[in-house]
Amino acid sequence: MKRILVLHGPNLNLLGTREPGVYGATTLAEINAMLEQAAAERGAELLILQSNHEGALIDALHEARGWADGVLINPGALTHYSYALRDAIAAVALPTVEVHLSNVHAREQFRHTSVLAPVCLGQISGFGARSYLLGLIALAG
Ligand code: DQA
Repeated sequence: MKRILVLHGPNLNLLGTREPGVYGATTLAEINAMLEQAAAERGAELLILQSNHEGALIDALHEARGWADGVLINPGALTHYSYALRDAIAAVALPTVEVHLSNVHAREQFRHTSVLAPVCLGQISGFGARSYLLGLIALAG
């Protein structure tokens, strides 16, 4: 049984109403339900956390060291500047997949940089809620 920590970063609790033209109409609860189903089909177990606080995400990564086999993370805007989150991902050394609903490379310049990508297995960006699903398949496979 693979155990995967799913982390949603700042502002993702607002999905469904937050800039739907950019992020779609799917709520975070719907994304989580989709992930739970996909995980169950693959014999994987998920622990899911959303936080607007960098430190809470870092704490969850530290705690995952004891039990998780991988991490699926949408770091939100922290993607672009959080060296603390990058260091935490590197420190726990769990296979980590970075996902984004929107295609960050087709948006503002500041979104083109991910300070996390170099310490992740890979990045999936631009497929809406399906980015999460593709990330989960990559980790659970
Ligand atoms: C995001 C992209 C980020 O640039 C942005 O700050 C987010 C969401 C995405 O899923 O497309 O909060 O990570």
